[in-house]
Amino acid sequence: MSNTTTPQPETTPASPYGTLPPASTPASRKPVSLPRLADMHALGEKITMLTAYDATFAAMADAAGIDCLLVGDSLGMVCQGLASTVGVTLDTMRYHTDSVSRGLRRVQGTAWLIADLPFGSYQESREQALRSATVLMQAGAHMVKLEGGGWTTETVRFLVERGIPVCAHLGLTPQTVHALGGYRVQGKGNAGALLKQQAHALQDAGATMLVLEMVPAALAAELTNELKHCATIGIGAGKGTAGQVLVLHDMLGINLGKMPKFVRNFMADAPGVLPALKTYVQAVKDGSFPDDQLHAW
Ligand code: KIV
Repeated sequence: MSNTTTPQPETTPASPYGTLPPASTPASRKPVSLPRLADMHALGEKITMLTAYDATFAAMADAAGIDCLLVGDSLGMVCQGLASTVGVTLDTMRYHTDSVSRGLRRVQGTAWLIADLPFGSYQESREQALRSATVLMQAGAHMVKLEGGGWTTETVRFLVERGIPVCAHLGLTPQTVHALGGYRVQGKGNAGALLKQQAHALQDAGATMLVLEMVPAALAAELTNELKHCATIGIGAGKGTAGQVLVLHDMLGINLGKMPKFVRNFMADAPGVLPALKTYVQAVKDGSFPDDQLHAW
């Protein structure tokens, strides 16, 4: 009897520990860019966004067809177990931005990558904001996000003039939760006029995206119609915004606390994570999420 073994056909090696495949087929869509986002905004195509904190989820969300990923400082709560985003440092943001960016590169991902400037990394001066934004851009971000209106306008202008795309963030701004007295709806009644004024100033300064968090749906829809050069991205702001964002773990039902009213658990009816992510993308695109009766004020 011969002891020669029959050569086995070459198979793709297993991918250990849930890591990403070493190579994948090139993406079927072009990378999402600022002009592409502006076109979507102008044409009324809803912009989809989710948070991402690691390489694997970033690659999966990209495979689901997400337009934008946000390395949110919500990672303070989601990944680090902090009570708020106030304790998140620039170095932590750099680490997660780097991981997400690497995940996207591994799968030739196409999503537009936004990273949050954390608390204390841009409040001191415009120059400090530029230094902090540089760290995140060098980690792979395409755009940075910063919270607040009024004093932030000149910071936004300073960054945009230096080639850094900026997403602003108004309404419930978690970094100032202590000053706001908790996670509550913002921009109600007379406060809506100030919020609108701040949003227009941010657009004029060059912000091309604006997250509106926990603001009345009517106010968000009005503002969305007024801002022609800045796409509003809502979270708890109703269906009238140019796009939507959710925290990844919330929309996958990975939340032991009380789920915020504006969240839908897309895992509830899905056979897996990828289908859940695809359903989210589809529901935002076709306008079936959010439902103003259930998810807005
Ligand atoms: O940090 C974050 O995840 C955010 C989103 C909630 C918009 O800012």
